[in-house]
Amino acid sequence: DWNMPDYIAEAVQKIREQVGDEEVILGLSGGVDSSVAAALIHRAIGDQLTCVFVDHGLLRLNEGKLVMEMFAGRLHAKVVHVDATEQFMGHLKGVTDPEQKRKIIGREFVEVFQAEAKKLPNAKWLAQGTIYPDVIESGGAKNKKAHTIKSHHNVGGLPETLGLKLLEPLRDLFKDEVRELGVALGLPHDMVYRHPFPGPGLGVRILGEVKQEYADLLRRADAIFIDELRAADWYDKTSQAFAVFLPVKSVGVMGDGRTYEYVVALRAVQTQDFMTAHWAELPHSLLGKVSNRIINEVRGINRVVYDISGKPPATIEWE
Ligand code: XMP
Repeated sequence: DWNMPDYIAEAVQKIREQVGDEEVILGLSGGVDSSVAAALIHRAIGDQLTCVFVDHGLLRLNEGKLVMEMFAGRLHAKVVHVDATEQFMGHLKGVTDPEQKRKIIGREFVEVFQAEAKKLPNAKWLAQGTIYPDVIESGGAKNKKAHTIKSHHNVGGLPETLGLKLLEPLRDLFKDEVRELGVALGLPHDMVYRHPFPGPGLGVRILGEVKQEYADLLRRADAIFIDELRAADWYDKTSQAFAVFLPVKSVGVMGDGRTYEYVVALRAVQTQDFMTAHWAELPHSLLGKVSNRIINEVRGINRVVYDISGKPPATIEWE
């Protein structure tokens, strides 16, 4: 029971008072929270905000293009697009352990972001899309436990090393309020109601060693899955859905020939809190269509399987 236009006016006023005529940088990830924070701060201070979008080469299909179209194109915000694919791939070469991969991706992310921040010496503030549940969880017992199971990489830890003041305009909001705010600020519904996407991205959806070739195949398979889920009205009925790349080859037939190619697993879950989850009972016809499309359209993949494991004992991600 809050009035959105009033809320926006108040939040905008608060940001202006806090920041004055100083400059702000924000790490844009394509996720809901950083997008809404960027839109709100841009509404308040316009060109005093510079968004930095780091592409680690492990994002979803066309993500860079979409983010640039939305923020640079439609909102006319200042956005620096950094393609750091080669740097990330280089550091991930030969690394197979999931936690090690997370650490490297997190570390390189900070590295790249810091290098960009140095190019903006006038920036005095670091803006983050921290929301209320993040505030409660940080330092909480629940979070510590989660950390020992999988280290969750977010943009945390940046301000101390950068010597910037923190601007967190979403700190008091719950997720559904952040979404409402995003829509009211003019962000597209599909962007604001997106499934969560992990910081390490496809890095934890390519089992074992990450290779650019695998990421390219996975991105295309994943996009087909998401397209078909949306077309069948199943996207909003699942909490998270994605494809996973299995670096094993199996035999297939295509035309007159024998193929020997990679496997993709589809994962779709329903959950309230992501601590426990059920695999989604997607219609067989939908799964069949997705499988046919992936195998026909993504040369290099000749087999698609569906993950029917609950959490626990499986986790949502495969790594
Ligand atoms: P799991 O796989 O632990 O996932 O059942 C629970 C939720 O957390 C997300 N996840 C991550 N998010 N960095 C993130 O930002 C990570 O390293 C990471 N690992 C898992 C996962 O996508 C799911 O929503």
